[in-house]
Amino acid sequence: MSCRSLMLRFAFFIASVAVFALAVTKWSNHDPLVPPPPTIVLGGVLFDVKTTSETHCENTSVPGKINQSIGGVAFNMASAVINAGGLPLLFSVTGTDAIGAHIRKIINGMRIDHIGMEVHEGSTPMFVSLSTGGELVTAVADTALLDQHVGAMINGSMLAFQMRVAKAALIDMNIEAEHVIRALALTEEHGVFTVIDPVSIPKAERLRAVLESGARVDLISPNRIELKALAADPNDDDDTEAWVHTASHELLARYPNLGGVITTMGARGVTLVERTRTLTLPAIPVESVVDSTGCGDAFIGATVGSLGATLCDWAIDPEVCVSKGLEAAARVLESDQSALFYV
Ligand SMILES: *[C@@H]1O[C@H](CO)[C@@H](O)[C@H](O)[C@H]1NC(C)=O
Ligand SMILES: *[C@@H]1O[C@H](CO)[C@@H](O)[C@H](O)[C@H]1NC(C)=O
Ligand SMILES: *[C@@H]1O[C@H](CO)[C@@H](O)[C@H](O)[C@H]1NC(C)=O
Repeated sequence: MSCRSLMLRFAFFIASVAVFALAVTKWSNHDPLVPPPPTIVLGGVLFDVKTTSETHCENTSVPGKINQSIGGVAFNMASAVINAGGLPLLFSVTGTDAIGAHIRKIINGMRIDHIGMEVHEGSTPMFVSLSTGGELVTAVADTALLDQHVGAMINGSMLAFQMRVAKAALIDMNIEAEHVIRALALTEEHGVFTVIDPVSIPKAERLRAVLESGARVDLISPNRIELKALAADPNDDDDTEAWVHTASHELLARYPNLGGVITTMGARGVTLVERTRTLTLPAIPVESVVDSTGCGDAFIGATVGSLGATLCDWAIDPEVCVSKGLEAAARVLESDQSALFYV
């Protein structure tokens, strides 16, 4: 073989490597035609009905305003994942009633992968609240259908299969601890970055059971009040950043398989505490606060959605992911919706 043809072959080889490398880079930078890796979102999708009236009266109805929307922590988080450029893969349950059909139609029209959505005989999870003169009178949540089927859904082959391709997972603590623990066995097996939203103080108690099981959790996202419920000293009501650091480090010391705590502190922003680093970012100012419902869901949904879509690398630049979360939270804060409806 002549030297010249050898050189030509070598040049061809180099060119092929370059083309391959370019293709790989392009793919990882997300050509809009190539979907990003999915972010698994596991939890409740609810139909929200909120009523408000001037008075309430026994044995008869009173005139008032009734608003309805699709909500639920998992739905709110999934719509924030889209907002951050990610692809949510939603695992939840809707019923065979008319509301269920309506919700499925909306979800099918959004950029949500709904292969994990199950339909079961019964009432779609719903939340109804009654307020008079701006004060909550009572609220009823019917999540029986989710509670009944989520265990089998987590045991099922679809979730296990999708874990193989996912980069990140978001879990809503509306799911019972024993089921969450089984989902965590899957995320750990497949090296999926896993984040749990404590949801509320009573649900933070469930989260405690999950952490005590020793399951691997990369991040939890309490607000300051939920952090207080999780931390050992419930009487410590110091709400300074130093207190957030102390409480977070205390949780990290207590649960060796917990990777980090990211605490939302309203207008003061968020504080991330991990074993070897801390990070505080201020909230994005908004012109007028309309409704803070769903703000925390939007924050963690967009943070983890951008991480799941590999638009940032948690090990290197978590502030990039967190900024996405803060942007989404600001948008929800200045709107009367609890989710960002991105199609
Ligand atoms: C219902 O929606 C309207 C307009 O979107 C809003 O001004 C009002 O506060 C909402 N009421 C309730 C009870 O959520
Ligand atoms: C409402 O109805 C119940 C049962 O008929 C009756 O006992 C009660 O007194 C009524 N309340 C008012 C405020 O009329
Ligand atoms: C899920 O699997 C676990 C262990 O494999 C089993 O104990 C549990 O009963 C199953 N739950 C459901 C609802 O299938």
